Amino acid sequence: MKTEILRIDPLHIDGEALAHAALILRRGGLVAFPTETVYGLGADADNETAVKSIFAAKGRPNDNPLIIHVPDIALCESYVERIDSEAKRLMEKFWGGPLTIIMKRSKRAKDCVTAGLSTVAIRLPSHSVAHALIKEAKTGIAAPSANLSGKPSPTIAEHVIVDFNGKIDCIVDSGASQYGLESTVIDLSVRPPRILRPGAVSLDMIREILPDACYGGGGDGVPKSPGMKYKHYAPKAPVIVVSGEMEEEAKKHTGRICILDYDDQTYKGDVFLSCGQDDVDYGARLFYLLRMADQQGADVILARNPKGGAPITDALKNRLYKSAGGVIV
Ligand code: TXA
Ligand code: MG
Repeated sequence: MKTEILRIDPLHIDGEALAHAALILRRGGLVAFPTETVYGLGADADNETAVKSIFAAKGRPNDNPLIIHVPDIALCESYVERIDSEAKRLMEKFWGGPLTIIMKRSKRAKDCVTAGLSTVAIRLPSHSVAHALIKEAKTGIAAPSANLSGKPSPTIAEHVIVDFNGKIDCIVDSGASQYGLESTVIDLSVRPPRILRPGAVSLDMIREILPDACYGGGGDGVPKSPGMKYKHYAPKAPVIVVSGEMEEEAKKHTGRICILDYDDQTYKGDVFLSCGQDDVDYGARLFYLLRMADQQGADVILARNPKGGAPITDALKNRLYKSAGGVIV
């Protein structure tokens, strides 16, 4: 299959290119597109064959449900049983933006999208191109992150091309994603509301609206967000999270040592990749840097433990610690 690469400027959207990508979606094709979090791999959520081809392209286990992306609350309504007052207040405050809301589903939300669950995950992105594309497609767009299963999520189109060139119909390139980490997922189908995956919309921000919201899975050891049980975000080289002296830790390893640290650090190892100045920068770059470390032939990746102090810090730690398989020194 020839994969079409369409460059669409998010500040000045080319209507013809957009209509073309939307038509591919309407005809059951797969289109990778930018969002403010990470790139998504989209298909018409109402087309079972198209949705199944997402799982095949990614190598994704089919018990892991997808998020349906919508351009407005009216389309969201058609995929859920009802939008209660809590959901409405979250939507008013955080949509469009990096928040996914899980609600009881309607008949329109297909089993292939929800993996047979009684709930469905819905998100309304803020990215201008994502928003315009979904609106033009005139249907909900089921989209996981546009990476092969197990690889770090893509934050630039080049990384989508590496994983999917020749395997999907089209890749829309609109430059780098703003946040660089996937959306916050909150489950409103349970009491109290539970955050199943941290993201740029923090627990504190949500508690301003829903004071009893908390982190957590099912409490029975079974992850409520099926995706969270799989190994994720892993580059080829092992990742070690370092809280202490970077140079001391480096002495314990052989081979090509790649350092991920903030700008102001002097120890550079064999390859130095900057995390920027704070956790906002680090979050935006983490997945990019993990892929870059592999490209640079790293044998081991020593990554600075996040300094804290940003709404995205919990999400950054969550993804970084997963990529490190929990190894923190
Ligand atoms: O930022 C994002 O959310 C990106 C962009 C493309 O929108 N998408 C994304 O999708 O990260 P994905 O498929 O990589 O992650 C979706 C997560 C998975 O952990 C999945 O298990 C969970 O959401 N999820 C989806 N539907 C669910 C449901 N009904 N109940 C519980 N968890 C659900
Ligand atoms: Mg993903």
